[in-house]
Amino acid sequence: MYKLLIRPILFRFDPEEVHYFTFSMVKFFSKIPGFSAIMRSNFKVKDQRLEREVFGIKFENPVGLAAGFDKDAKLYKELADFGFGFIEIGTVTPVGQEGNPKKRLFRLKEDEAIINRMGFNNGGVIEAIERLKKNKGTLIGGNIGKNKITPNENAADDYIICFDALFDHVDYFVVNVSSPNTPNLRALQDKEPLTELLQTLQNRNLTHINPKPILLKIAPDLTDDQLLDIIDIIKTTQIAGVIATNTTISREGLQSDNKIEVGGMSGLPLGKRSTEVIRFLSEKSNKAFPIIGVGGIHSAQDALEKLDAGASLIQLYTGFIYEGPSLIKKINKKILERLN
Ligand code: FNR
Repeated sequence: MYKLLIRPILFRFDPEEVHYFTFSMVKFFSKIPGFSAIMRSNFKVKDQRLEREVFGIKFENPVGLAAGFDKDAKLYKELADFGFGFIEIGTVTPVGQEGNPKKRLFRLKEDEAIINRMGFNNGGVIEAIERLKKNKGTLIGGNIGKNKITPNENAADDYIICFDALFDHVDYFVVNVSSPNTPNLRALQDKEPLTELLQTLQNRNLTHINPKPILLKIAPDLTDDQLLDIIDIIKTTQIAGVIATNTTISREGLQSDNKIEVGGMSGLPLGKRSTEVIRFLSEKSNKAFPIIGVGGIHSAQDALEKLDAGASLIQLYTGFIYEGPSLIKKINKKILERLN
């Protein structure tokens, strides 16, 4: 139904406009009594065998929504009704910011990919927590970043502001230093600044009686040596794990004319590299920490490959756009099928 009827219509319009339009539509329909229940009964797969306990949190199922889709925590409840086991909000920054000038989001249809250079457009962390205060049980990850105007020397201050503000409202944290769309952000992935940033956050975390898991989200463009550094850094700072991966700056193997757009590429062509990164981290660390696998999951088979490579949980973004909400159900069903 989605690929046959809904997608062809949505794909005729500007991708960013479509994003906001579908948000309003889902919000509108969800206000109709019974709609959410129908969505849940259609899309949710409830089975104890799908439950996972990862970094001390119990997940209803291992399929989550990746960061960037519900940046401002506007639709997490409704999105969970589509069957996601967890929703990652953000990236949020201390102060709201516009992001890059439009157009900044591009579909690469022939490649089943997206290029985006959104640039952390978001309403700021305070707005997000006002919405999260209404949360009635959706498992939420809080993906945090720095404002564009904050220099890298002061980046830790921005991450701490977001961390403190969100602490009571999220289940886990994600430190995003891997977006290609905030100038110089990825320099924070270097060993020294990254260790310092994560240690600062972890020290703050440990002042709480019940600290929360902090994960690091990394780029797929890191070299093997940089990935080995990441393993060291996780061990040193004792943070909970890694999300692999964010979007890539590579354009390898793309066919679409608009592959020349500047930004991060996501979707099907990212899948192989993202799985490689997961496998490398899992093997070289001897499974020392959990990994959330994300990048190019467009089928149940793609999801199983991520899990087999060493991911404990997975997330979708671009596959959700191309395949529609039934993808979540298909993945959960396939996981169960394999157990039989
Ligand atoms: C993203 N992604 C992202 N990641 C992040 O940590 N913070 C963010 O704000 C965003 N924003 C964002 C916007 C858009 C339009 C896209 C397509 C992606 C990256 C996303 O969470 C994920 O890591 C990658 O897209 C790879 O997964 P998929 O899309 O191939 O499933």
